Amino acid sequence: MSGQRVAVVPGSYDPITRGHLDIVRRTSALADRVIVAVGDNTTKNYLFTQEERVRLAAASVADLPGVSAEPLTGLLVDFAAQRGAGIIVKGLRFAGDFDYELQMAHLNSHLQPGIETVFLPAGRQFGTISSSLLRTIAHNGGDISEFVTPEVLSAVTARVSGRA
Ligand code: PNS
Repeated sequence: MSGQRVAVVPGSYDPITRGHLDIVRRTSALADRVIVAVGDNTTKNYLFTQEERVRLAAASVADLPGVSAEPLTGLLVDFAAQRGAGIIVKGLRFAGDFDYELQMAHLNSHLQPGIETVFLPAGRQFGTISSSLLRTIAHNGGDISEFVTPEVLSAVTARVSGRA
């Protein structure tokens, strides 16, 4: 073991938002290395492929030292263990997030008892936004520039207008 504290921040990131980035930035103050793990849930209808979501996440965290983005395949706890990560970080926006995340945390701790799930309260500024609401706004021609990085904004604009 290198003694480094490695944290994984998992999600679908379709696309990554300033709310996600706030959680990632705050996690980077608590850990030496942070891996943004971009999952692919087959039941979800994504706007971006997993590869595109990883690329957008990587571009959005490029200015954060010690932070990287990777595709997540298989079980989250296996992904974390393979990378020497002892912490899974989840942001909680409101009470509705907690029920689901508590179930995940219990299952993950059953699967891999050495890995702790840590909940961070979502920041006040972007606390209740979600990728799905932003997709809806963008699909209907609304402005989401406040909530995403410029790279993500142009990718979403191109995708919803059928240009990419
Ligand atoms: O942003 P999301 O869609 O809530 O993120 C979901 C994600 C990727 C974190 C979740 O689907 C996940 O952890 N997938 C990996 C498979 C796994 O380990 N599931 C939990 C144990 S059943």
